[in-house]
Amino acid sequence: MTILDERFGEFEKLQSEEKIAYFEKDGRLYDMIISQQLNRQVLEDLYRISNRLRAVAKSKAGSMFLQNLLCHKRAMLYFTQPSSRTFLSFENACHILGMRTSEIRDTSVSSEVKGETFDDSLRTFSSYTDLIIMRHHGQNIAERAAWLLNTWSNRPVPIINGGSGSDQHPTQAILDVYTLLRSFEDQGGLDGKTVLMCGDLRRGRTVRSLSYLMKDFEDVRIIYAAPKAFQMKEDVCAFLEKHKIRYQVETEALEKVLPDADAIYMTRIQDEHDTEPGESSRTDISKFKLAPADMAKLRPNAVIMHPFPRRDEIDVSIDRDPRAMYWRQERNGMWTRGALIAYIFRVEDQIMNY
Ligand code: NCD
Repeated sequence: MTILDERFGEFEKLQSEEKIAYFEKDGRLYDMIISQQLNRQVLEDLYRISNRLRAVAKSKAGSMFLQNLLCHKRAMLYFTQPSSRTFLSFENACHILGMRTSEIRDTSVSSEVKGETFDDSLRTFSSYTDLIIMRHHGQNIAERAAWLLNTWSNRPVPIINGGSGSDQHPTQAILDVYTLLRSFEDQGGLDGKTVLMCGDLRRGRTVRSLSYLMKDFEDVRIIYAAPKAFQMKEDVCAFLEKHKIRYQVETEALEKVLPDADAIYMTRIQDEHDTEPGESSRTDISKFKLAPADMAKLRPNAVIMHPFPRRDEIDVSIDRDPRAMYWRQERNGMWTRGALIAYIFRVEDQIMNY
């Protein structure tokens, strides 16, 4: 146990609310580590910046303007877990803003195989780059990275968590809220809506991070639809209770609650987190899938979302239904991540004023 392990052990004991200050600079978001750091003001700012970024990037002149914004900055993509969308959307977001990127996607090609500690590897990345975007199987590892650079290293650079263990995926939650706000723009926004989350709620980090953000909206109701074995964990439910967010649990069948939902957020079973082979397949999930016949039960203005990758939770024939939002949701990831990076580097006003 090193002195860093000891000190981080102390940090880990803090409540999420107390940790947030470590991830800020001058009272503003600096590292993006956990959803609890976000609030309505920041989410609405990111919504506007994303919309503007999307519009500016359309023209050649606008795109050249964006290319200049952060051309003096370099980003590191450190992704040791599989990723398609998160990786590509971040990489392209960096490129839209003119940042150059380097990547490590496999620890077998980094010095970690020679016995280097995570802490030293991370400090090495910060020696060469100005931003570290990371996805890692470790539960609190993005927290450790930000804590380490902010308290110990003399070259702190911002850290963005692109998914940590089965715990948090805050930038997915940002793009999900963006998609919800955009979908409900003509329906009074997200306030008062019912968001149904279905699938592996126990080990899915996307639904956990998204649940936290519901505290920033008025009168949102959550429905968690999953068999008992995959239901939402106690810690998130306690958070909802503390913030007086209404939620309901459905363990029998998705179809029972479909008519109540304004948004249906489907997820896959996270069997990579099984502790023994075949653990997930013991639970019958056949009643928690979306089939073409279900479309008649959905509200006419409902939106169907999925963080992807999908397996068979949503039948492909549903892709053509106007309520299917998941392909647009996926693309929104690039704009919202670009907006977040612009916000962290404080060039968002330049985008807004272009
Ligand atoms: C999710 C993830 O990695 O947590 N994927 C993503 O980033 N869009 C969801 C998943 O893997 O099921």
